[in-house]
Amino acid sequence: MSYFITLEGPEGSGKTTQARPLADYLRARGYDVLLTREPGGTPIGDQVRAVLHDLDNTAMHPRTEILLYSASRAQHVYQAIRPHLARGGVVVSDRYYDSTLAYQGYGHGLDLEALRQITAFATGGLVPDLTLYLDIGADAGLARRRSAAAAGDEWNRMDTHALAFYERVRAGYRALIEAEPARWVTFDAAQPVEELHRQIIKAVERQIHRLEES
Ligand code: TMP
Repeated sequence: MSYFITLEGPEGSGKTTQARPLADYLRARGYDVLLTREPGGTPIGDQVRAVLHDLDNTAMHPRTEILLYSASRAQHVYQAIRPHLARGGVVVSDRYYDSTLAYQGYGHGLDLEALRQITAFATGGLVPDLTLYLDIGADAGLARRRSAAAAGDEWNRMDTHALAFYERVRAGYRALIEAEPARWVTFDAAQPVEELHRQIIKAVERQIHRLEES
């Protein structure tokens, strides 16, 4: 059976740190795993990512932003995700369209219904089987991002918003989870990496079991 698992969370939630051990775990369990991310995930998507993250692109309008994220996503879905799922593999994606709803919708205040329509067009309606949400307070998350950047991690245009923006993003994620609780599992991202990994594995196993039964 094929599964599509996404990781979501505000800046500094540690999604990227958790994505690899999750993919390794699933590979050890015998699955053919594609570990991927958004924006990006394909050569074309990576070029779009560079435009989105360029610190010089301060003039970018939120509408341009959503279309670029969606362009990257369409390429990702049709070149990488759908073919991998069709071969019976598991896809683990570090961000997917929920990021658009949380950041461009709740963060920038763009019309959610319009975003859903653009997203449905870009993805052809592909919805994840499971979304892992790593929750962290906006200030704690930003503090983590700053220290990671000081240690050499990328610091990009999306890291430069005000704290209130990230608070809206986090509230947005909570609203998305409330609207569709069966797809999401929430984790406390402030706990140690190893413990978080154990909890993620447990949740993934539970969902795989559920999907196999249905
Ligand atoms: P990340 O590499 O830390 O996940 O950063 C990606 C940034 O892009 C992050 O600030 C969230 C943002 N983003 C959006 O605003 N909308 C989207 O649709 C996606 C995929 C990411």
